[in-house]
Amino acid sequence: MTPTDSYGPATYRLALPADANRLAEVHIRVLMVAYRGIDPQDWLDSLPQQLEERRARWKDRLSTHPDDPVQVAEVDPAGIVGYAVGGRARGEPPIGFEGELISIYLLPEHQRRGIGRELVRRVARSLIASGFQGMIVRVLSANPARIFYERLGARALGIDTVSIGGQELEETVYGWSNIDLFFPP
Ligand SMILES: CC(C)(COP(=O)(O)OP(=O)(O)OC[C@H]1O[C@@H](n2cnc3c(N)ncnc32)[C@H](O)[C@@H]1OP(=O)(O)O)[C@@H](O)C(=O)NCCC(=O)NCCS
Repeated sequence: MTPTDSYGPATYRLALPADANRLAEVHIRVLMVAYRGIDPQDWLDSLPQQLEERRARWKDRLSTHPDDPVQVAEVDPAGIVGYAVGGRARGEPPIGFEGELISIYLLPEHQRRGIGRELVRRVARSLIASGFQGMIVRVLSANPARIFYERLGARALGIDTVSIGGQELEETVYGWSNIDLFFPP
């Protein structure tokens, strides 16, 4: 029996303002583990000091943009164990890829159980409901999560750079041209 067997199946819903503190905590915890060796260590080490500020930002975001599709996954008894955010693609996305999976974070002990796949499907469905046909996701090229997107049918569209903690890092832009096809209702 693995430790994750002691958790029940995940349930999914849209985030509420009351989830702000937990989302900030999940975000920081996942970043500190998943991005070790990828993002600058000084920046990762500074994340716990940003907790209060990040809680306030989440509260503001969830209170003022309640229609933004922030999907959360919960398991009993842990509560929220991950979330995914979608919206209009930032920057200048390729034509036909106007939706974006902006972020997805799952606590380490809840990864590889299909929760990420379901969160992406839910974000994709809400983007379809908002009129988007294609969706991109930006992933640091050194992040093994890129294989996750490939497993979900995304294809690499190009390379970009992003500034994190004062360093320029390479990111790969992946995309699904027809999300309805890849993420059925
Ligand atoms: C990336 C992430 C969201 C994936 O979620 P998950 O719930 O672990 O993934 P799933 O269990 O739904 O996996 C779906 C498929 O992707 C594969 N996969 C998932 N993570 C993988 C990895 N790191 N390496 C290789 N394959 C992976 C699974 O094996 C599965 O393949 P299958 O369809 O053949 O069975 C999660 O691992 C995570 O939060 N990682 C840390 C934060 C992060 O890097 N986020 C992405 C930022 S761009």
